Amino acid sequence: MMNKKIIALLILFGFQSAAFCVSAEPTQAYEGRRLFVSYCQLCHGLDGKGAGPLAKRLKISPADLTTTIRARSDTVLKKIITGVGRQTITGRDRHNIISDSMPEWKDIFSDKQLDSLIAYLRFLSSSKHGLMGDPVDGLKLYQQYCQVCHGEYGEGDGIMTSLVGMLPMDHSNPNETNRFSNDELVVSILNGQGKYMPAWEGILSRSEVEALVSYIRLLSH
Ligand code: HEC
Ligand code: HEC
Repeated sequence: MMNKKIIALLILFGFQSAAFCVSAEPTQAYEGRRLFVSYCQLCHGLDGKGAGPLAKRLKISPADLTTTIRARSDTVLKKIITGVGRQTITGRDRHNIISDSMPEWKDIFSDKQLDSLIAYLRFLSSSKHGLMGDPVDGLKLYQQYCQVCHGEYGEGDGIMTSLVGMLPMDHSNPNETNRFSNDELVVSILNGQGKYMPAWEGILSRSEVEALVSYIRLLSH
């Protein structure tokens, strides 16, 4: 009788933790980057600086989003992106006039997607380091190799931490990750660190580690 209960509990727990691993939703900045690659980089460039492949064809140069959007509120950015209410030249919105070389995306994006795009724009304008690898590959590798210690959202609270009492780097805190250049992060991942951070050299290739570094940076937004 007792055994059955324990087995039932174990099965329940097993299912829950399996569901927990699979359902991990990517961060806003990660989702925003995905949308940006599909809808914005043609003009603004992958790094947001304005040199996309279509840039030279436009009457007006695409803005360098890494600098211009700092002064803009989320509300104004939504108006600029959707075009809805973009032309209102009243009061605090008077900076909200943008030429029609910037498409009006109307209702193509859901509110959640707009928030994600804006999270990525905020990442572009505040991160000290660009993305060196493909975060889409990085996400898969992270869930496969790093999540058990660094946690679902990189907060350093993975399942392993409570078992052996270790303190992994908190990737969700930009002050922690911004201290390191991309190359420094690559080297420390390949070489390992301290008692518990494994050396990944020989297990992961350099380009896989670069993808991981990009993914880790997006965890901070
Ligand atoms: C067809 C080219 C094109 C595409 C695609 C495009 N943009 Fe733009 N965007 C521009 C141009 C050109 C400007 C500058 C307009 C101006 O200064 O009047 C601009 C300006 C902006 C600005 C205002 C920057 C500022 O603060 O002055 C934001 C924000 C912006 N774009 C975001 C986006 C996002 C997000 C996407 C993708 C969903 C996107 N753009 C797609 C051409 C484009
Ligand atoms: C077995 C647990 C464990 C796994 C798995 C693990 N880490 Fe870590 N990681 C740690 C710990 C603990 C630290 C803190 C090390 C220290 O400062 O002593 C750390 C630190 C780091 C740091 C900071 C290194 C530095 O120079 O301060 C980075 C970056 C990092 N890990 C990335 C990763 C990546 C990417 C993966 C997956 C490929 C990964 N970790 C997998 C436990 C782990």
